[in-house]
Amino acid sequence: MDSSSVFRRSFKKPFPSAVRGEGVYIWDSEGNKYLDFSGSAAVNFIGHAVPEISAAMTEQAKQLEFVHTSQFTTPIAEQYANELLDFAGKNFARGAVYFTSGGSEAIETALKLARQYQVEVGEPRRHQILSRTQSYHGSTLGALAVSGNRRRREVYLPMVREFAHIGIPYCYRCNYDCKDGCRNCGQEYAAELDQAIKASDGQAAAFIFEPVSGATLGAVTPPPGYLQSIAEICQGNKVLLIADEVMTGMGRTGKNFAVDHWDISPDILVTAKGLSS
Ligand SMILES: Cc1ncc(COP(=O)(O)O)c(C=O)c1O
Repeated sequence: MDSSSVFRRSFKKPFPSAVRGEGVYIWDSEGNKYLDFSGSAAVNFIGHAVPEISAAMTEQAKQLEFVHTSQFTTPIAEQYANELLDFAGKNFARGAVYFTSGGSEAIETALKLARQYQVEVGEPRRHQILSRTQSYHGSTLGALAVSGNRRRREVYLPMVREFAHIGIPYCYRCNYDCKDGCRNCGQEYAAELDQAIKASDGQAAAFIFEPVSGATLGAVTPPPGYLQSIAEICQGNKVLLIADEVMTGMGRTGKNFAVDHWDISPDILVTAKGLSS
């Protein structure tokens, strides 16, 4: 194995050195050309080395590269937040954007924001974040705690805070033995959330979910009525609804955000990946 000062994602395989990109292609230092079918990991939605993007980045870096958010706002951050809220549609018309550096940090922030909201509205007992068994919300400890991806969290389990995970509608292995392609069992799964909220004895702060499953259950869509019921249950119990659209947001499912397919209005919407494009 070649020696490297970079801590790599695998010790078992050599990594080609990527030196250039253009549109859907990446070139390595040996001159090999790769067709990037997956946009890295659903990140480069608009391809590599887009000239307008590097021009805009250069222009901004020449004017001002960084100021601390505890002291300043900037015209570019204000403009970006406004554009993003417009893109998110009427549900976020009077909303606000909190910028982070990536998906996991955005999830951590959403979890903390949900807790802080509950404290601010006089519900200090609410601190539990409910989530689903087959899910992935990121690699940091808080995000791993709410994720259900067994292999990715196994090693760290003694370090993570565990809250209730409810079942996820997955037609191929449906828990409810249905024979109709999960057309009607959405309500059974939604009822699991109701039960978990009741079992939390007033301590549930939020429920987090991926509208369309990503890394743990490839591209599984919810059965009819399920997400609408989930949203109603949350609202009826003062539990915040957090949509994790790190993977599905920014147009990846054909609408601006995946929740738009089911016309539900999450309290917090987390996005990343394609946003970086
Ligand atoms: C649904 C979902 N949430 C959160 C994350 C974490 O995002 P990041 O890898 O940018 O930290 C991912 C990453 O794959 C994801 O798919």
